Amino acid sequence: MQEKADNLDRQSLRGFLRMVESDYPDELLRIRQPVDSRFDMTAIVFELERSGKSPVVLFERVDGYAMPVVTNIAANRRLLAACLGVGQPDLPAAFRARCQKYIPCELVPQAAWNDVVLEGDDVDLTKLPIMLQFTVDGAPYITAGQISARDPVSGVDTTGFHRLMLKGKNRLGVSLHSRRRMYEFHRRAEERGQSLPAVITIGTHPLHYMGSMVYAYPPNTRKFEIIGGLFGEPYRLAQCGIDGLEVPAGAEIVIEGEILAGVKEPEGPFSEFTGYASYRSTQNVFVAKRIRMRGDAIYQSVTSGMSKDHILVSCVTREGEIFNALQRNLPNVRAVHVPHTTCGGFMAFISMKKTADGEPQMAIMATLGTELYTKYVIVVDEDVDIFDMNDVMWAIATRVRAEKDIFFIPGAKSAILDPTSDPKTFTVTKMGIDATRPTGIDFAERLVITDKQRARAREILASAGMAL
Ligand SMILES: Cc1cc2nc3c(=O)[nH]c(=O)nc-3n(C[C@H](O)[C@H](O)[C@H](O)COP(=O)(O)O)c2cc1C
Repeated sequence: MQEKADNLDRQSLRGFLRMVESDYPDELLRIRQPVDSRFDMTAIVFELERSGKSPVVLFERVDGYAMPVVTNIAANRRLLAACLGVGQPDLPAAFRARCQKYIPCELVPQAAWNDVVLEGDDVDLTKLPIMLQFTVDGAPYITAGQISARDPVSGVDTTGFHRLMLKGKNRLGVSLHSRRRMYEFHRRAEERGQSLPAVITIGTHPLHYMGSMVYAYPPNTRKFEIIGGLFGEPYRLAQCGIDGLEVPAGAEIVIEGEILAGVKEPEGPFSEFTGYASYRSTQNVFVAKRIRMRGDAIYQSVTSGMSKDHILVSCVTREGEIFNALQRNLPNVRAVHVPHTTCGGFMAFISMKKTADGEPQMAIMATLGTELYTKYVIVVDEDVDIFDMNDVMWAIATRVRAEKDIFFIPGAKSAILDPTSDPKTFTVTKMGIDATRPTGIDFAERLVITDKQRARAREILASAGMAL
């Protein structure tokens, strides 16, 4: 029994917070001073990011609300790697490999979120500390709501984040613009004239966040089984009170309800991952019927806009997917970097040890064929550090012959939220840049300061009082 409780804890948001507090205390920031649910928390996270810091932030007191709020749980490569028990450089490959080791879930009789059950008139979403993050936002948004529902045809369930606009005590606007499983499940239910029973889960472990973003394949694979693969043990789920849906037993808050059939209402604008206000939405509506939660629930929020909390997991997912695809034909590809500053997918940098002409072009085509969101691919030689934007820009500035090394693919399908995509067809012109040195000609020699010279320089600087 105790072992089960420990397992539940390990798989929960709380278990993660405890791990950070004990093993990485510098990466957990507790803010005890009261903050406003409008703008304060978002501004704090962005100020931290500007100074190069990405701790998990726990706001203990939010004006007007009883619950503490945690944000920025997925903004830090070091912590995501720690969740998988690997070092930072191995994060994308380990993530990709574990995602393919599906583990069946375990259904447990007790759930942590059954302490408080609110039904009927007691359902009041306005009592949750739902944040208003940017001035453009049409209303406060639940941003860490994992929605789960079953496919009305196959009965297989899914889970994924979808933004939820607060519209009233029991009403939320929802956009299913990714058009993946949830969009399709809702479409299938609607075709039968039915609303889609659904559950919103708030407050889960970062491995749940990561696993929910994966393209689950084959189609009957449960994302919860993928998340189990990430944990390396069965993910523990408990049944809630709608459609027999199963959600993580260690979660903080569970909201049961349905996404209505045949109802569309204005939703948005919302501060999206592109760094722009988004007005594009599928305009669906979720009606809440019951709220369950822990007695001392912690409310989780994803910092919106182009924050790492919103984007880093997408970067890591895409790095793993693209690397995997490239490895099939190009074993000389060294690494892939999808920087968070280019919206978690719009650009990908590829490092390769080029052995023949045409390999960068192959890498560009394979990358664009693998990842819908990616529209610019830059290939560099292995001496360029793809995790250093300055080094990549230097390679473009000194190794690209514009007339030969830049390729365009017009009319390619792209992300709906990309502001440059055609508003009717959602297509863009994609671009590849070969920033590798040309082969077979005498090319300029790169200047180098050796490790030995650097070490000596540091020693001299340290004795001059300037330790680096
Ligand atoms: C923080 C966050 C918020 C997201 N919000 C939305 C959203 O509002 N609508 C949407 O369609 N996808 C959104 N996504 C992407 C989906 O969660 C992702 O595509 C997921 O895999 C879809 O799950 P599904 O396959 O169950 O539909 C979001 C992703 C993140 C990380």
